[in-house]
Amino acid sequence: MDTDHVKKVCVIGASGKLGQYLVRHALERGYEVVGVCRERSMPKLTAFEGRMTVVPGPTDDPEVIRRAVAGCDGVLTVLAPWGVRQYASGTAQAVLDHARPGARLVFSCGWHITRDGKDRYTRMFTLGVRVAALLGKLVRAVEIDDQVEACRRVFASDTRWTVVRGSTLKEGDSQGLPVWSRHVGDPILASDLTRRVDFALFMVEALIDDALVQEAPAIVGRLTPSALAHRGGSPDIPAS
Ligand SMILES: NC(=O)c1ccc[n+]([C@@H]2O[C@H](COP(=O)([O-])OP(=O)(O)OC[C@H]3O[C@@H](n4cnc5c(N)ncnc54)[C@H](OP(=O)(O)O)[C@@H]3O)[C@@H](O)[C@H]2O)c1
Repeated sequence: MDTDHVKKVCVIGASGKLGQYLVRHALERGYEVVGVCRERSMPKLTAFEGRMTVVPGPTDDPEVIRRAVAGCDGVLTVLAPWGVRQYASGTAQAVLDHARPGARLVFSCGWHITRDGKDRYTRMFTLGVRVAALLGKLVRAVEIDDQVEACRRVFASDTRWTVVRGSTLKEGDSQGLPVWSRHVGDPILASDLTRRVDFALFMVEALIDDALVQEAPAIVGRLTPSALAHRGGSPDIPAS
């Protein structure tokens, strides 16, 4: 598929904070938008009533996803590690199985996901992820291992995927398209902060950026100190 001709996109996890920004950016680009969210979360999308189609249901339900992604040129998926029931990997699998061949598939996750093992994490970061994973599983609220598994499946697929790895997120007005690197640990990412609205912007922009096909960019806000200090200084950094 020619990514210049994206017309219809599906947002999986549309009612969350990131999802609502994804919907807004996609509508602003003139795309036809279909969203999937849990039935009880539908009221969170009332601001978009009449401008998008909502398919209610769990995002790991293959039948819900099959209906939602039908005819979509792009699928934007919020991979959320909630619960202890393989929700993220089930969601990723349903998208991989049912999106139409050639569709652009863009997934969200955090810096803790590594594609090639070459990311360099601080001890604090690694410890924080381990503690969150342990505590999350203990109280059966979060399953970080399953988000790792979801991304492993995406990386192994021969679809036109991009996995966008978000830094720590913050609310606030857009600062424009974040900058990225292939590896956490690159000095450009040191500030570890991105506006959530810009995380969504990067994902929507990725739909039409073929340079990001089968890439797992780690992103950071373009106006953060590390981005301002290092833009253009690393071979990993795309010219932007
Ligand atoms: N938060 C961060 O600091 C951070 C940092 C880096 C990367 N990220 C990545 O950013 C993405 C979005 O994260 P976010 O923190 O901004 O959250 P978010 O956008 O609010 O998204 C949370 C999503 O999970 C769903 N959800 C919440 N509880 C659930 C449950 N018990 N069962 C099933 N679904 C549930 C929400 O749906 P409902 O609307 O139905 O509740 C929503 O679609 C994720 O991929 C995350 O890995 C986050």
